[in-house]
Amino acid sequence: MSKVLVTGGAGFIGSNFVHYWLKTHPEDEVVNFDKLTYAGNLENLSDLKDNPNYKFVKGDIANSDDVKKAMEGVDIVVNFAAESHVDRSIQDPAPFVITNVVGTQVLLDSAKNAKVKRFHHVSTDEVFGALKLESKEKFNEETKYSPNSPYAASKAASDHLVRAYFETYELPITITNCSNNFGPYQYPEKLISLAITNLLEGEKVPVYGDGLYVRDWLYVQDHCSAIDLVLQKGKVGETYCIGVDNDTPNIKVIRLILEALGFGEEKIEHVTDRPGHDRRYAIDATKIKKELGWKPSFQFEEAIDLTVKWYKENQNWWKSLRNKDYLDYYKRQYTERGEK
Ligand code: NAD
Ligand code: TYD
Repeated sequence: MSKVLVTGGAGFIGSNFVHYWLKTHPEDEVVNFDKLTYAGNLENLSDLKDNPNYKFVKGDIANSDDVKKAMEGVDIVVNFAAESHVDRSIQDPAPFVITNVVGTQVLLDSAKNAKVKRFHHVSTDEVFGALKLESKEKFNEETKYSPNSPYAASKAASDHLVRAYFETYELPITITNCSNNFGPYQYPEKLISLAITNLLEGEKVPVYGDGLYVRDWLYVQDHCSAIDLVLQKGKVGETYCIGVDNDTPNIKVIRLILEALGFGEEKIEHVTDRPGHDRRYAIDATKIKKELGWKPSFQFEEAIDLTVKWYKENQNWWKSLRNKDYLDYYKRQYTERGEK
């Protein structure tokens, strides 16, 4: 039996992970430590309120007092807590540095003092920069870091700190760098969740630039199973890249969603592109597949259908998130950035 501290457990991937963990390791105790920013939502975990092995603690990973208390008796830390949206990092980079860089360092220090058995850091393929559209190249664990957005740069810095705590203090760390996730409980600011919720509200889907930017979309359940395997079998000090060879242009993703909801091209709206927009991300996941035996369980089209169904059936969940703050953000991002 282990005590697992999940930071950012009220967010999209974190809440899926808390559910996944309590289902697959029911004997473990899970502490969800989350600041509850705009992206954190305890509704995601409301079904767990009577589970004696689940506890929520409100706190900030950049606050050492909060973290020290939460770290007591912890065996495993899984760090999801972050500012996670590229467009917000372009509007205002400061919180990204505070949470993603300073917060990770505060957590590492506390985990070191508490002598945890494992510190797992959840990171992104965006730290590697962009691949050319026409190349066949993919990112792997040896790819040089070359982050382009303030978000990616802050995650890159956090990865370096995690590695440094292994090299310098022998903190037993592992890192995963994964591709874009989608699935239930994703805040409606990322491409897939935004597209589905806009369409369900009768609005159009904003497509940046030519829509030919490529991402390797990973269903969140498959991401959770990969992290589980890294925690069970991963080698301390190592990084594992997680991806599913599902390199897909944005416009194709959007057309699948349009089809699932019975809409046509009239619902597509080309808008001003994102500055510094990374053309293509793609992951070579050979290491985690060969060394740990991981394989994804979901097909892309099937997972898109499951996701669309979830948003259709959980309208109260996302409608309550489309509040004044969200609409202000939406306006800044989509209507005030000038002509395309
Ligand atoms: P999210 O934005 O949905 O959730 C982030 C969570 O962290 C929220 O619950 C928020 O309240 C919490 N948080 C933010 N600042 C905090 C702080 N200072 N202290 C404590 N909690 C804080 O993010 P997500 O999409 O679930 O991403 C989770 C992790 O996975 C992040 O580290 C992100 O970089 C990484 N990641 C995400 C994706 C993706 O496609 N979403 C892909 C690769 C990697
Ligand atoms: P996003 O979900 O923000 O993830 P990331 O930037 O981390 O890859 O965006 C995925 C892709 O979709 C990216 O190429 C930007 C594009 N995109 C749009 O075309 N329109 C949108 O409204 C959003 C949010 C993203």
